[in-house]
Amino acid sequence: TFLSQAVTAQTAFPTKPITLIVPAASGGPTDTVARLIGESMGRTLGQTVLVENLGGAGGTLGMARVSKSAADGYTIAVWHIAHATAPALYESLKYDVVNDFDHLGRITDVPMTLVSKPTLPANNVTELLEWIRANKDKATYGHAGVGSASHLCMLMLMKELGVQMNGIPYRGTGPAMNDLLGNQFDLMCDQTTNTTNQIKDGKIKGFAVTTKSRVSSVPDLPPLDAGAVKGFEVSAWHAMWAPKGLPKDVSDKLVAALQAALRDAKVIERFASLGTEPVQADLATPAALKAHLAAEVPRWGAVIKASGAKGN
Ligand code: MLT
Repeated sequence: TFLSQAVTAQTAFPTKPITLIVPAASGGPTDTVARLIGESMGRTLGQTVLVENLGGAGGTLGMARVSKSAADGYTIAVWHIAHATAPALYESLKYDVVNDFDHLGRITDVPMTLVSKPTLPANNVTELLEWIRANKDKATYGHAGVGSASHLCMLMLMKELGVQMNGIPYRGTGPAMNDLLGNQFDLMCDQTTNTTNQIKDGKIKGFAVTTKSRVSSVPDLPPLDAGAVKGFEVSAWHAMWAPKGLPKDVSDKLVAALQAALRDAKVIERFASLGTEPVQADLATPAALKAHLAAEVPRWGAVIKASGAKGN
């Protein structure tokens, strides 16, 4: 009957692998979060979730691709705070960050860490700030493109310190981390998901966290706010998006699988080892993400305008 056909059609999704676009290079923090979530969602949905890394231009290349993909649930994205900063930075942006997407839900808020190449002479945050002030004209920092979390964090720090250092853009902080390990540049402000193990193994120097309180995965690092840079606070929130206009049953399944991933003990354990945790259940919803994004766009727009930063 017509009714049973409709029911069958509704329960069919997904019948083939889902492509999960990560608008940053592999091996970086967004990639790490996306792969953990994608793997768990794949188990729930009974299909493979294939990550495709599409970095460049602060993530706007990858998100443009998502906005132009078919709204059938087979192309989704995990990206972060840079989705909210893009409108203020990229004049030629080909999509509307709020209206050209279905907002599936938030995933996590990731603390950031101020780190350096292994050979930098400073050994604590006070010495580091002295080193920055003394070397401000030649100091270099790596970041994942204009508007990325690593870029925003450094913009805010430079503004607080009243210095300008030289930024080196990468397609993601995965490849940037490789160059930091090799002493190719001096500093980076990056998410704990990418820095925890390198700090613990003594492969890079960790100086401070960018949250108001200490982070359990790197307990020795003081908050920057604790005296060194009063009031400093920044973290990167990640979320899941799809092209605008998913069929309701498809959207419902993706959202349910995302929410199940955030309750998945394996995900929670791995997140904890990297200094983060899933957002509370009421934030992992389409409505909460859309509201959050709508508030973040003007908030970061003002910060970016004041900084004079430009994408293209
Ligand atoms: C960022 O700085 O925004 C991130 O590190 C991007 C990434 O996942 O590489």
